[in-house]
Amino acid sequence: AKYEPEPFKIKATEPIRLITREEREKVLQKAYFNTLNMASSDIFIDLLTDSGNSSMTDRQWSGLMMGDESYTGSRSFFRLEEVVQSLTGYKHVLPVHQGRAAENVVFPLLIKKGQVVIGNTNFTTSKAHIQINQGISLDFISSDSLNISVEKDFKGNLDTDQLLTYLKENGSQNVAFIMITITNNNIGGLPVSMQNIKEVSKIAKEHGILLVFDAARFAENAYYIHEREDSFKEKNLKQIILEMFSFGDVVLMSGKKDAAVNIGGLIVVKDKVDLYESAKYAMIPIEGFPQYGGLAGRDMEAFAIGLEESTRYEFLQQRIKQVENLGKQLIAAGIPIQKPIGGHAIYLDAKKILPHIPPCEFPALALCIHLYLESGIRGSEMGSFSYGRGPNGEDGISPCEFLRLCIPRRVYTDNHMRYVADNVIKVCEKRQEIKGLKLIFETKYLRDATSKLEFK
Ligand code: F0G
Repeated sequence: AKYEPEPFKIKATEPIRLITREEREKVLQKAYFNTLNMASSDIFIDLLTDSGNSSMTDRQWSGLMMGDESYTGSRSFFRLEEVVQSLTGYKHVLPVHQGRAAENVVFPLLIKKGQVVIGNTNFTTSKAHIQINQGISLDFISSDSLNISVEKDFKGNLDTDQLLTYLKENGSQNVAFIMITITNNNIGGLPVSMQNIKEVSKIAKEHGILLVFDAARFAENAYYIHEREDSFKEKNLKQIILEMFSFGDVVLMSGKKDAAVNIGGLIVVKDKVDLYESAKYAMIPIEGFPQYGGLAGRDMEAFAIGLEESTRYEFLQQRIKQVENLGKQLIAAGIPIQKPIGGHAIYLDAKKILPHIPPCEFPALALCIHLYLESGIRGSEMGSFSYGRGPNGEDGISPCEFLRLCIPRRVYTDNHMRYVADNVIKVCEKRQEIKGLKLIFETKYLRDATSKLEFK
């Protein structure tokens, strides 16, 4: 079919407004050119993230009313627990307020000073928590995955050759754990195959290493396995998700992505009872009691419903195709983006678009700023700016300089996407005029959150 209608109708709307170019210039100056430091009322189309801003279903909204706000033993907790147990096949469920809170509780229990955490690309917050716990974050990914022109089905995979070489040379005693992030956010929202999960799990088991999933976009990953991996065409998404998780020991999840809630996260432990008990104890002073973990009863209720609905095939298909269609419009115009197109976002290659700006002058952020100036659209930098510095304060050079255009679920229409494509193309036509940036204030960790910059 030429047109594929969305599998939902829209029950509530929220007005958005495009302020003038002069106003946008002032906004940028006031924000010190840090696009994370702007008021949402000054943004027309916000593609900063797909986290906590997706459109909830009417069932989720009704769940908010049904939430049980009892301090302990909330009915909503037990509902969430049951849904998570049946989705993951794991026994022990701890709610936390969001994904990084799960990291904050669990990482100190797993990482000893100087140990490494090996991932397929540890997300920015994971990397920060690894460093805060005096560990070292290692990303093992094939060079093809970083080459935007190489179209492979599962570019999110953890590179097992690099993993085996590392273990051969260093042994396993210095590995805190292995973490597979599904989908692989930092390099393009690209999926990890069941085959790869299985292989990594086998290596982890043979070496006695714990396998953790960072499962913010687990449903999108399962969708890709269903579409692209031969032996999974006949299985449904729930079966695929159960099988994926069966290979690991721990699931950490931000509920703000595929579960489409405004707030919520999880620590789920299969059978390592000691770890579960320690996490349960560790979370009380920081997140709260193990049966609410920083969430209201209503949040847990909406979370449970969101998780149930996250495996609806037609929702995932519409979402992934919407992102893909935006990407196709850009590819048709010759804009360099990560290929194949990922599940939740388009990743513009600022290295290729702005070759005259070196990584230390943050080409992707410069592109982000100019896109906002042109159109009121905000993306997010995923390059050397958010990558941060090396252990000795040296300039950190990210393997990619991406401007991510991240699409919240069921929020924007295909017309919004056409506007986005047109304006990205317009900005790229003026690429020669774009200059690099320099930092005038920065913090040690997660510097993208609060830094101040100016144009060179
Ligand atoms: N892991 C992954 C893969 C993520 O994408 C995120 C958040 C987190 C962990 C942390 O979860 O935000 O609930 O604390 N990603 C958002 C993004 C912020 O824009 O990609 P959180």
